[in-house]
Amino acid sequence: MVKKIEKIFVKTYGCQMNVFDSDRITDSLIDFGIRKVKEPQWSDLILLNTCHIREKAAEKVYSELGRFKKIKRENPEIKIGVIGCVAQAEGQEIMRRAEIVDMVLGPQVYHRLPEIIKRIQDGERVVDTDFTLEDKFEKLEHSKHVKRQPAAFLTVQEGCDKFCSFCVVPYTRGAEASRSPEVLFKEAKELVTSGVRELTLLGQNVNAYQAPRKSGGLLDLAGLIKEICTISDLKRLRFITSHPRDMTIDLIKLFGEEEKLMPYLHLPIQSGSDRILKRMNRGHTVRAYIETIDRLREIRSDIAISSDFIVGFPGETEEDFSLTLDICDKIRYAQAYSFKYSPRAGTPAYERADLPEEIKVKRLMRLQEKLQIHQSQFQTNLVETVQEILIEKHGKFSNQYLGRSPYMNPVVITSREDIIGKIIKVRIVSSNGLSLFGEPVT
Ligand code: 5AD
Ligand code: SF4
Repeated sequence: MVKKIEKIFVKTYGCQMNVFDSDRITDSLIDFGIRKVKEPQWSDLILLNTCHIREKAAEKVYSELGRFKKIKRENPEIKIGVIGCVAQAEGQEIMRRAEIVDMVLGPQVYHRLPEIIKRIQDGERVVDTDFTLEDKFEKLEHSKHVKRQPAAFLTVQEGCDKFCSFCVVPYTRGAEASRSPEVLFKEAKELVTSGVRELTLLGQNVNAYQAPRKSGGLLDLAGLIKEICTISDLKRLRFITSHPRDMTIDLIKLFGEEEKLMPYLHLPIQSGSDRILKRMNRGHTVRAYIETIDRLREIRSDIAISSDFIVGFPGETEEDFSLTLDICDKIRYAQAYSFKYSPRAGTPAYERADLPEEIKVKRLMRLQEKLQIHQSQFQTNLVETVQEILIEKHGKFSNQYLGRSPYMNPVVITSREDIIGKIIKVRIVSSNGLSLFGEPVT
């Protein structure tokens, strides 16, 4: 008798797109009689949704699999699957190195999961790393039976055609593909009906979104945002991640026109040196980036800008790095992520000489120190102001709630009423550099 797969445990690494994929997978499997459990040992199927963007991604997966091996020893009927970007990059190699793995699926075939689950249930080992042209999410429908958090993600675009010389995304997620506007509008409406008040549109290159409309013509991201903002119970909208090359005038203008579009933009620059940007194949200059930010600030002076940075890219000199510090002083980021360059096999930069680790570590520390100062200052500037906060969830203590400002700052509030899902006016009373603390204004 084969053991029916009824309980699933998913562990997710990496970006918000992986988080969205994992949620959508567990969500859609509810209708196939499979429910999520909180511990791997309680499940019939363990899925590891992996990330390949930096560091020793594949090694991490193998050591995680080592831990699952013990669980499988105690309960040999548990099936194990590796999905996501490491699965795409490694494929069959994972099956070869880790006997305990029953399936390896790349990010573009999740819609085949119900069928693949049946096959592994019957004892087959399955590897599927196709790049299909189908919209996987159309098949992985949101279950109607889940109550949603007030802030949710919606993937609108996937993949990348930019080929930055350090990045694996074009190889793991494939070419840029945009989802149909009609399907997205329907999904956005369903999410709002089930309690969502803030949507973040996701894409590796979200502002490259472009898709044909059934009624004719092409819709870009600005057009899609306008359409989604007509859903009246949707109160806030954001989008992430944008590429500086695709910041169209229409999109920039929208920050001054569309009230629901929040004043926050994640626009990675990666480096402040034109020489390095060129070697990274970013396709824009520092000046062009600054011009985009200047335009945004003319239209929406309070807009919070965030970025990603890579330090220690091959060939980066002290002079190049100091230009990265300069761009931080110029833009004054409200928030930023910074990373040491990590060579990725298969990318053009992989062949170039890697800088010594000590240099990378030191530069990262210097950059993070500066970014932290700016981030704290941005937060401190909000103290004594009144902000509209969307309350997302309970905090650690009773009567404590966690929400976000329009600028994405986490805000901790105490209230006797249940305020989850509401947007309330809050006076910000203090900041600890990471979170803000506030009191509801009556
Ligand atoms: N090394 C370090 N950081 C990287 N990123 C992407 N590829 C690499 C790499 N090889 C960073 C970039 C990107 C973010 C998602 O991850 O800053 O914007
Ligand atoms: Fe990677 Fe560059 Fe594409 Fe971003 S734009 S996903 S960094 S290749």
